[in-house]
Amino acid sequence: MGKQKTQYVCQQCGAQSAKWIGRCPACGEWNTYTEEIIHGTGPRQKSTFKTDSTLQAITEIRPVSRERMKTGLQEFDRLLGGGLVPGSMVLIGGEPGIGKSTLALQIALLLRDKKVLYLSGEESAEQIRIRADRIGKGHENCLVLNDTYLENILNQAAHTEPDLIIIDSIQTIYTDQLESSPGTVTQIRESTSRILQYTKNKGIPVILIGHINKEGHLAGPKVLEHIVDVVLQFEGEQHYAYRILRASKNRFGATSELGIFEMTGAGLKQILNPSEILLSHRDEPMSGVAISATLNGNRPFLIEVQALVSSAVYGTPQRSCTGFDIRRLNMLLAVLEKRAGFRLGVKDVFLNIAGGIRVDDPAIDLGVIVSVLSSSLEIPLEKDTCFAAEVGLSGEVRPVSRIDQRIGEAEKLGFQYIFVSKYNQKGLDISKYQIGIKFAGKVEEVFRQLFKSGTRS
Ligand code: TYD
Ligand code: MG
Repeated sequence: MGKQKTQYVCQQCGAQSAKWIGRCPACGEWNTYTEEIIHGTGPRQKSTFKTDSTLQAITEIRPVSRERMKTGLQEFDRLLGGGLVPGSMVLIGGEPGIGKSTLALQIALLLRDKKVLYLSGEESAEQIRIRADRIGKGHENCLVLNDTYLENILNQAAHTEPDLIIIDSIQTIYTDQLESSPGTVTQIRESTSRILQYTKNKGIPVILIGHINKEGHLAGPKVLEHIVDVVLQFEGEQHYAYRILRASKNRFGATSELGIFEMTGAGLKQILNPSEILLSHRDEPMSGVAISATLNGNRPFLIEVQALVSSAVYGTPQRSCTGFDIRRLNMLLAVLEKRAGFRLGVKDVFLNIAGGIRVDDPAIDLGVIVSVLSSSLEIPLEKDTCFAAEVGLSGEVRPVSRIDQRIGEAEKLGFQYIFVSKYNQKGLDISKYQIGIKFAGKVEEVFRQLFKSGTRS
């Protein structure tokens, strides 16, 4: 065996260096270099994988018919763009305890007539069995392997010829062709590409589970994000049961889609109609609450914006946001100061999007402004009214995309009125809706209708 050679490798992006450096020049992250043993000092090992590559005109390439594998978990299939593409590699990332293993196992159990190889380097076969009993019925086609050694895994795959491979987690897999320890970027990269070579060839889809680090990135491997076809992020607030799965990369579909689940005692339950759970059930109108019609991917849903405005006790007023961008809140408050005499300097403002979800959609601006004003004036809004418009710096009520879908959702949920921008009027066929659509061009017009007593604060 040749002399051992070590290299310092950035665990974030895979860049290499002969000596330790504090900050990676390639990706700019701090403190990411660790020493890894690089096997052999000779020339780089040749790949054993050979293909007969031929040059083809793009028009002559025949698209193979790629029938997607439906997992039966609708939210998951929709997110992928209609099921798993043969030979594709899907990476599910998320914080520990968020439910990645549960989701993967649930998929394995749903695919009753497919042979699924479920590899776990994190839990014993018994633990997996206990979990399976909790979330559904096991079936004979779900094969569990508790191993982390890549060569074993590939042998088992060749032997069983599964229809789907699930690997929980990629960080635990290692190959002895490299001497660096499991979990290092070199190991992850090598294992992933070896798995990929095998499964792409055979047309088997793979679901990889990946940990994320403190900063919320997929641990180590940015490299991994380049290799895989689909990257799904599993998110949620610790104190809420809701879990959101979103695609941040998808070679076979849109990335704007979003799947919502609820963690129950018997695994993850799909939330097919998010509005119903995201709206709190209140009997009386309360001040500071406004319902907004938002959109995630192609699906509209209604969310509740809650604001609390109180007199500032300290010199600097407090601003706090959950689920909404604080800079955007500050901007909207400034608009309020100009347009409604809201005295920014003496008020604390707290804003919360109910249900623990995060919204980036500018269409909730109007809902935010109105909820703040409602709390400040202590005038509740009517329960049957909702909002869908962006607000500009000069207080103009701006149009938003897919307004018909938003209005449709509000109507479906029994709302009587929806405030939208008058610039959305064009092309909108109002005769098809029962719901009353109120058009506004300026925030003042909205305020006047909602808070008839005026907007002095
Ligand atoms: P898990 O899938 O192990 O998370 P990850 O693989 O992302 O680390 O999920 C762990 C959490 O989910 C754990 O705190 C228990 C909870 N859970 C339920 O509430 N109900 C269930 O049916 C299952 C299987 C787990
Ligand atoms: Mg797990």
